[in-house]
Amino acid sequence: MTGSIEHPLGEQHLAGCLALSRAANWNQNEADWRLMLATGHGWGITLLDGTLAASTLVLPYQTFAWISMVLVLPEHRRKGYATHLLRVALADLRNRALTPILDATPAGREVYRQEGFRDTWTFKRFQLEKGVRTLFPEKGPDSALAWEKVLRLDREAFGASREPLLRNLATRLPRAAFFTEDGFVLGREGREALQVGPLVARHEDAAIGLLSQALRAIAPPLYVDAVDHAPRLQQWLTKQGFVFQRPFTRMVHGAGRAPGNERLVYLVAGPELG
Ligand SMILES: CC(C)(COP(=O)(O)OP(=O)(O)OC[C@H]1O[C@@H](n2cnc3c(N)ncnc32)[C@H](O)[C@@H]1OP(=O)(O)O)[C@@H](O)C(=O)NCCC(=O)NCCS
Repeated sequence: MTGSIEHPLGEQHLAGCLALSRAANWNQNEADWRLMLATGHGWGITLLDGTLAASTLVLPYQTFAWISMVLVLPEHRRKGYATHLLRVALADLRNRALTPILDATPAGREVYRQEGFRDTWTFKRFQLEKGVRTLFPEKGPDSALAWEKVLRLDREAFGASREPLLRNLATRLPRAAFFTEDGFVLGREGREALQVGPLVARHEDAAIGLLSQALRAIAPPLYVDAVDHAPRLQQWLTKQGFVFQRPFTRMVHGAGRAPGNERLVYLVAGPELG
């Protein structure tokens, strides 16, 4: 850590945060960083020349917390920055008695395993680059009754209420938001592509139905993070022209199990959100 300082992350670091997303080819835009800094908190490592070289956030969700945005500029990797910030985050969560959870890239997984995380389940990012879509007019899903059902189902699937997050996402891409008796899907715009997710449903047919509705309403480029325990959904995505981009592993710190009921989850909100 010689030649650098660790500090809390705030809105004054947004430009550096976006540069970290860009350097890693990640999809977060300014709205994502603002949302995460507002719902959680984090730390950065800044070099003497003022460059933000590394970030880590925590997003508390009642009994557990997401560790998010573990990013290091390519030219400053393998200097221990990610490990240092991860330890700061773990100490913070230990003090708050929150179980640390995260979605790891293959490179991140090597760091996390050494710090006491273990694998639970997996998912894959698929991307759709091209394709002609029928664009329907903007619609809003916002009925109080529907929201009540969405929040109940999501709490069961995710293991905690994340109402502020879901309500925020619903405003980001309203035409991709669909609520039915059997599930819901939301989407958002990103730096590189639109992301569809979370998608939570009672069964796989309902999930595919919701996703096809959302996909008819938006145009590529698109990302989805589809769980490996729904192979029919993944096959369906491939038939629509989606291609595999990268794998993720949901990891929990210590002996805890992943919260919620992953059988209800078809698309995660994104590795940075859960
Ligand atoms: C993953 C990432 C955050 C690691 O940051 P880092 O500061 O380089 O990690 P550290 O220096 O703390 O690494 C600690 C140890 O983890 C392991 N490790 C780190 N990166 C690794 C990689 N790419 N492949 C294999 N092992 C790796 C090594 O054992 C390393 O120790 P060593 O350098 O003495 O061999 C960084 O590569 C990155 O920003 N990648 C792109 C974004 C990303 O995938 N983030 C993780 C999100 S889940």
